[in-house]
Amino acid sequence: MSTAKKDYKRVTVKSLTEMKSNGEKISMLTAYDYTMAKIVDHAKVDVILVGDSASNVMAGHETTLPITLDQMIYHASSVIRAVNRALVVVDLPFGSYQSDPKEALRSAIRIMKESGGHAVKLEGGREIKESIKRILHAGIPVMGHLGLTPQSIYKFGTYTVRAKEEEEAKKLKEDALFLEKIGCFAIVLEKVPAQLAQEVAESLTIPIIGIGAGGQVDGQVLVTHDMLGMTHEFHPRFLRRYLDMYTMMTDAFKNYVSDVKSKDFPNKEEQY
Ligand code: KIV
Repeated sequence: MSTAKKDYKRVTVKSLTEMKSNGEKISMLTAYDYTMAKIVDHAKVDVILVGDSASNVMAGHETTLPITLDQMIYHASSVIRAVNRALVVVDLPFGSYQSDPKEALRSAIRIMKESGGHAVKLEGGREIKESIKRILHAGIPVMGHLGLTPQSIYKFGTYTVRAKEEEEAKKLKEDALFLEKIGCFAIVLEKVPAQLAQEVAESLTIPIIGIGAGGQVDGQVLVTHDMLGMTHEFHPRFLRRYLDMYTMMTDAFKNYVSDVKSKDFPNKEEQY
């Protein structure tokens, strides 16, 4: 089933560059807790992202803005305890890196020290260059994130496809080149035209991981709860659902209620 070209015992930032040069696509999924991370890692997903999408998926907020650095560290440390193989990348949350580079470095150091994460991800291009450079200088691997950047939702007003116009596409390409030049090890490209994403992936040596960016990039990322069909009210075009867990779980819970009410559970074998 797997088409991995090499059996990585432990995925590192170097493994990802190697995968790109070997033409092996990189798989990445989110996880925010121990149990889910254990399964995702067991399935040999290459990169686990402790995304600030935890703000939506785990906490029920409308946007990713409210999640705090302490909460991200809590999620990331739970994930780290589960993982043996995957590279674990942790999102720096909104407000923890935009105001000044020293604060960005402090936030990244807290993530690395307190959660044991392997790398951090920041949203944005040249406008946050000093923050990224400072984190990189401290020896912390940085993954960039361009295109749709959910932490800027109130600037754009919608979650629609980004960089459809020439000017925005040009800025995105320049930002991607810049992130590679200063030392980012990979870039997430979210919700941009497939042609543009392909051009970016072909012009860079670091891997481009797409979400809603077509198939001609170096890897794919999805929010695990979405691809499992747990979040059934969210159905963007790019999302492939591998299970309908909303229905499966609802059925299981209904069966449990029915078994309890009918006194079928527990039976003689299920008691002491
Ligand atoms: O927070 C997140 O889950 C992300 C992915 C959508 C890339 O940033």
